Amino acid sequence: MALIELDDVTKAFALPHGGTKVAVDGITLAVERGECLGIIGESGSGKSTLGRLILRLLEADSGTIRLEGQDIRALGARELRRNRHRWQIVFQEPFASLNPRLTIGQIVEEPLIVAGGYGSRAERRQRVIDTLEEVGLSEDFLDRRPANLSGGQQQRVGIARALVTDPSLVVLDEPTASLDLTIRASILRMLNRLREARGLTYVFISHDIETVRHFCSHVVVMHHGRFVESGSAQQVLDEPREEYTRNLMAAAMPPIPYRGRAEAAGATSGAS
Ligand SMILES: Nc1ncnc2c1ncn2[C@@H]1O[C@H](COP(=O)(O)OP(=O)(O)OP(=O)(O)O)[C@@H](O)[C@H]1O
Ligand SMILES: [Mg+2]
Repeated sequence: MALIELDDVTKAFALPHGGTKVAVDGITLAVERGECLGIIGESGSGKSTLGRLILRLLEADSGTIRLEGQDIRALGARELRRNRHRWQIVFQEPFASLNPRLTIGQIVEEPLIVAGGYGSRAERRQRVIDTLEEVGLSEDFLDRRPANLSGGQQQRVGIARALVTDPSLVVLDEPTASLDLTIRASILRMLNRLREARGLTYVFISHDIETVRHFCSHVVVMHHGRFVESGSAQQVLDEPREEYTRNLMAAAMPPIPYRGRAEAAGATSGAS
């Protein structure tokens, strides 16, 4: 049984001036346990909408969504809340996704309280500390607040909050897009290590095709809410069958500002 099974899932949004926009258009998909599925596609192609539908953070209009065999569209509000801890998400903007009034300790503990069944206060606190350590943050962060952390540290908190309940599935929606290049690499390495150590299944939404190539076992390419291509990462990215995928890859420019700085620095040192 696949961990994620989608059958003909559709979602349309009402437009402010009438009409609708079909953001996800009849998607059928299976993701096996332990896989990392990369979702690529131009802006507005429906990647985030699909990621949210998978976790029922958005309600689909039609279709079936099964996680670990469970039809999540059929779950009542209480059942959904009780099951949420198994299926988590990490967002692109860590600061926007962390409650600024809470301490890091409270933020990471919150999913444990919502789900229930994670023991006494002391046991929950220990679990929070252990998880913070797993993402590279010490106990010293417990009483600090999001505003006092760097972007990379904030995202580590976002990841700790997603992992603290020991989920089977994590949707990562451009988790490093807002971070400096140097921090990106270390966060991605950490995510990869955690996936292996915990046997996690990832859905990894990204514009960065090179990262997807290194990070993901499988890839789907989205365009106007549909898949234009899917398969192993190697097959899709090394030998794309569709022109849309080839264009997407051609358009994925190297990071110009960074390169510009590197070249400028090289030129300066060469001249001196
Ligand atoms: N809450 C919403 N209300 C109305 N339209 C929406 C809403 N969310 C998304 N859309 C529309 O649905 C389409 C898909 O959006 P989505 O955010 O899923 O794209 P995306 O592939 O994640 O883009 P990006 O790469 O820019 O994050 C877009 O046309 C978007 O404008
Ligand atoms: Mg998006």
